Amino acid sequence: MFDLDAFISECRRLAGGAHGPKRVLDLMRASIAEPESVAKAVAPQGPGVGALDAPLFRSPELTVLNVALRPGTVTIPHDHRMWAVIGIYQGEEANTFFKRDGAGLAQANRRTIRSGEAILLGEDVVHAIENPLGAETLGLHVYGGDLLGAPRSMWDPRESREHPYDVPQFYAWSRELAASRKTSARAAAAT
Ligand SMILES: [Fe+2]
Repeated sequence: MFDLDAFISECRRLAGGAHGPKRVLDLMRASIAEPESVAKAVAPQGPGVGALDAPLFRSPELTVLNVALRPGTVTIPHDHRMWAVIGIYQGEEANTFFKRDGAGLAQANRRTIRSGEAILLGEDVVHAIENPLGAETLGLHVYGGDLLGAPRSMWDPRESREHPYDVPQFYAWSRELAASRKTSARAAAAT
């Protein structure tokens, strides 16, 4: 049975030791292999509460978030500047990875993480995520530092220029991107 407090304690212990990110990935894989057990142990977020508003754990060395992605959620590209282990315990999270290209970004590859799976992202990763399903996607995200306090970057959806990460602007641009995708999809369906 998954125990959230024990999971966080073990993440803290492993993250500070040798091969910390890989050890946390192994722990996440073992934990997320029974996704229903994780879902029972992690309280759902209240309405209007974002993952960044209510971290499960936060310290200078580690952040643990319970991230809910509503159906159709799309984010703009962003970095973390620290390693991240992402485990999905309901639904799926489609990742698009980017590499820096001049002043902007170029798409590098895509990978979808499904319920019961986990990945490790290196500290220089730039990605965007989306929930392609008609139901909520839920994941445990572990970061190797204080994600909420760290300076990092995001890229706007129109010019793909780098900006300092700012929570309200991140969500505003992400909503704008989701709306423009819907408009494009409708236009494509009408032709
Ligand atoms: Fe991210």
